[in-house]
Amino acid sequence: MALVFVGFMGAGKSSALDDVLDTDKLVEDQLEMPIASFFAAFGEQKFRRREEPIVLRALRSGASAIALGGGSVLSPVVREALCEHTVVWLDVSDETAWARAAGDDRPLAADRAAFCALHAERRPLYESIADAFLPEGDRLVRRAEPALRALADAPAGTKLVWAVAGGSEYPVFVGRGLIGGLPRPGRRAFVVTDANVGALHGGALRDTHHTITIPAGEEHKTLAVAERVWRELAAGGMGRDDHLVALGGGVVGDLAGFCAASYQRGVPIVQVPTTVVAQVDSAYGGKTGVDLPEAKNYVGAYHQPAAVITDVSTLETLPRDELAAGYAEVVKTALIAGGSLWERVAAGAAVDKRVVLDCARTKIAVVASDERDGGARQLLNLGHTVGHAIETVTGYRRYRHGEAVALGLLAALRLGGTEALRGQVAHLFAAAGLPTALDADVDAEAVVAATRLDKKRVGNRVPFVLVRAPGDVVFGQRVAAQDVLAAVVELRAG
Ligand SMILES: NC(=O)c1ccc[n+]([C@@H]2O[C@H](COP(=O)([O-])OP(=O)(O)OC[C@H]3O[C@@H](n4cnc5c(N)ncnc54)[C@H](O)[C@@H]3O)[C@@H](O)[C@H]2O)c1
Repeated sequence: MALVFVGFMGAGKSSALDDVLDTDKLVEDQLEMPIASFFAAFGEQKFRRREEPIVLRALRSGASAIALGGGSVLSPVVREALCEHTVVWLDVSDETAWARAAGDDRPLAADRAAFCALHAERRPLYESIADAFLPEGDRLVRRAEPALRALADAPAGTKLVWAVAGGSEYPVFVGRGLIGGLPRPGRRAFVVTDANVGALHGGALRDTHHTITIPAGEEHKTLAVAERVWRELAAGGMGRDDHLVALGGGVVGDLAGFCAASYQRGVPIVQVPTTVVAQVDSAYGGKTGVDLPEAKNYVGAYHQPAAVITDVSTLETLPRDELAAGYAEVVKTALIAGGSLWERVAAGAAVDKRVVLDCARTKIAVVASDERDGGARQLLNLGHTVGHAIETVTGYRRYRHGEAVALGLLAALRLGGTEALRGQVAHLFAAAGLPTALDADVDAEAVVAATRLDKKRVGNRVPFVLVRAPGDVVFGQRVAAQDVLAAVVELRAG
């Protein structure tokens, strides 16, 4: 199995690793002229006919790393042959691609607008054949290579997303039956799980050195439970060359992540998310923490995982209510992403591997542009300002996090004035078994007061994330307190 690099012109395919078989070079050798000259003399169709058998031979050559020309994958026969290999899509921005390709005698890089249009046309094709999704980055493929090679031994259909956040990078594996098999960093594994997940899935983890089981539920995402974990790690002799594994939903991931961030000032953590909330959202991006009675997620740290292993088959044991709660984060992420993810979710797509993967990619891309909530990452807070306030006011017991987010999302859509979209989302929530009305006894004034504890407030102002349309979401929006109150009161009415 070779690593086969695909992607647009200028993505850095031929220099991805030290020893890459470059099919464009092979083609030029065969044509005995530069590709640009052949294009000019005979046109693209003739070129593709000559290119195809050369690419197929390269794919059968036994080379361990191969770079394909940007248009090679237009051939269905080439795409079929790629099934034998690990296809690595090197994504690249229009700016970088143009800066690298223009003026380089490339036949399809003569006009910038046409170049960008071709890139937009090709992206879905690269996306559809990729086993691994890599962003731009200096010598990034070299660092990702061990994870890319691990795909060869992973169950069929496993995907890899390379996440970049601040100064950290980590592999995210998404597939089925992954818990046991993938390599993890560090010597011994100290596993934190909750009572439910440990009983159902703990046995699948290989090489566990020590397991710490915490009680299940948001009400246990506390400093007291974190202290218990720290002390058990110390008693078990965990050192910085070991690693922590968070096996569970967002509560386990946040709490264990916080313990890993602070224990001995930081040890590696591998997130193994087992709920929809965790698989589409909380396992990526490095936000860790615990709740205080005063407010949610009020004590914590940024601590990026060393790896994330997202095994969607664990969702098969998830209770229906928890599946529904996670659906709120799916809809939130799809609204932020827009495009084909939103179209599929809006059409009622099931939460399967593809939806989980696309949500994970959306979150990872947002975090890559802003690790610490200074800008774009605030988009991920869509629905959470009112959602967190509802959780706080109801003592973290009445609503699941995802249920509160669903209600918060409906409030945010009301505040954004997108009534038709609000109706569509309410319909999706109702069909998934999520609440679309706040219980009548919840104090609306108290919810509004609790929004003022939002960690993103600036002075007395709480900025809101609002949706103009799917894929067009804005953060930092000013909303008057009486409008928030009206939206919460309306939410109570359903
Ligand atoms: N860090 C972030 O970026 C981020 C983002 C979103 C949410 N969160 C946090 O995530 C938390 C909510 O996460 P959650 O919804 O996963 O809740 P959770 O972790 O409490 O899990 C929900 C329930 O499902 C059970 N469970 C988990 N996996 C299971 C499985 N595969 N089979 C059967 N039962 C299973 C758990 O034991 C628990 O009872 C909140 O605390 C929220 O603040 C964090």
